[in-house]
Amino acid sequence: MSKPTLTTESGAPVADNQNSATAGVGGPIILQDQHLLEKLARFNRERIPERVVHARGSGAYGYFEVTDDVTGFTRADFLGTVGKRTELFIRFSTVADSLGGADAVRDPRGFALKFYTEEGNYDLVGNNTPVFFIKDPIKFPDFIHSQKRDPFTGKQEADNVWDFWAHAPEATHQVTWLMGDRGIPASYRHMNGYGSHTYQWTNAEGEAFFVKYHFKTNQGVRSLSADQGADLVGKDANSHQTDLLQSIERGVYPSWTLYVQVMPAAEAANYRFNPFDLTKVWPHSDYPLQRVGRMVLDRNPDNVFAEVEQSAFSPNNFVPGIGPSPDKMLQGRLFAYADAHRYRLGVNHTQLAVNAPKATTVNNYGRDGLMASNGYDRQAKNYEPNSYAGPVQTDQPLSAPLAVSGYVGTHEAPAHTKDDDFFQAGELYRLMSEDEKKRLVENIAGGLSQVSRDDVIEKNLAHFHAADQDYGKRVEARVRELRED
Ligand code: HEM
Repeated sequence: MSKPTLTTESGAPVADNQNSATAGVGGPIILQDQHLLEKLARFNRERIPERVVHARGSGAYGYFEVTDDVTGFTRADFLGTVGKRTELFIRFSTVADSLGGADAVRDPRGFALKFYTEEGNYDLVGNNTPVFFIKDPIKFPDFIHSQKRDPFTGKQEADNVWDFWAHAPEATHQVTWLMGDRGIPASYRHMNGYGSHTYQWTNAEGEAFFVKYHFKTNQGVRSLSADQGADLVGKDANSHQTDLLQSIERGVYPSWTLYVQVMPAAEAANYRFNPFDLTKVWPHSDYPLQRVGRMVLDRNPDNVFAEVEQSAFSPNNFVPGIGPSPDKMLQGRLFAYADAHRYRLGVNHTQLAVNAPKATTVNNYGRDGLMASNGYDRQAKNYEPNSYAGPVQTDQPLSAPLAVSGYVGTHEAPAHTKDDDFFQAGELYRLMSEDEKKRLVENIAGGLSQVSRDDVIEKNLAHFHAADQDYGKRVEARVRELRED
């Protein structure tokens, strides 16, 4: 078998890849050994900053196929025709741990999608949970600090985790979800995905709707108990990666069915709770699930670093017919992601193959910067307006305008009749079977009983009491029992 010649980065043939060049036999290494210097220097630069959250993840390519007509709600072209397929890339992730952390842990999972549409890339950056811990982005850095490693001990600390939640009653719903049976998915294939936020869709007539996305796994939801998770972490810390990779390699392609809940825009103002509050779900009895299509994952990336580590998703990558709602959390995220990418990957991260549009071309006046590799015609102007053939704006807003009123200031959310932080946590608890309730109480008490401050424990107990009397009573009894042991 003839093999290609080994070369330096500049393409010159390498004579010896086993022995460094020395001054005489047994002498010191000489500076002119370009191959050695380049090899060591490049190795030192292999790591880039990891994602500040969701550092550990797995990716796959696939497609989305429209199965149902939703043109009454959105003019998004990739959703416009039944049967239409759009290529996509997904990155699943855990949230709290750093790169190298284990997969089968109790943590939300990221569900980040990039649809390579003919109208540009559409990113839907969701989780496997329909709600979130907080509802204002100003709390996000504090929240994440409390969940990741403590700056002194270098470990995740129950004290910090529960101290934050003690001060965030709005987290009770998501905490109930996370500590329940779905808190440790068996694999990425066996969990649902949610857009979580409310988004805005606009149809061809300019009518606006608010929507929530639900991707239901066709593999069935499967989860692990705390003990099963711990066992699996010991056997294969990369269990989710192993499962996804092997399933696709074997030709067993995982799929999800996409449904949306659709609220006519005019109903938002008088809905009984704030429909843009990320800590709440919309009951299906108010807004039933409507099927849109299915997502199939059928190709593994060839190179994890190039395609998964360097993938970059931003909730502000919209396409015509889809836009943001006034959800404050979403608004904060519209800034945070592209900013993170500019730091983590550089200003030209959108030119990397996994991030660049595949079904359309980029045409703008953004130029240069570190690692610029996109070529422009030599006659192309780099300013606009111009008298030449450069690209021009469409004068067509991507989505319908959002009505606003009032004064600039730091406001709490608009008041709706039923905005309290606890009722949906209580509803979720009451939906659980007796066995599920037992496991939920055990998981919460196991963590909360490790907290060193009584006042932090009491504040958290008050949240569970406020959600449901029985829930509060049982968590409290179990925490007291465990602390007496
Ligand atoms: C990743 C910020 C809330 C889902 C990230 C990253 C940042 C960030 C900076 C790292 C991006 C990168 O380096 O590529 C925020 C802020 C939030 C917020 C400021 C609240 C204001 C949420 C919510 C969800 C979510 C509510 C889900 C509904 C994700 C996912 C990733 C991620 C899935 C990983 C994306 C990937 O796979 O590359 N977030 N986040 N985040 N976030 Fe958030």
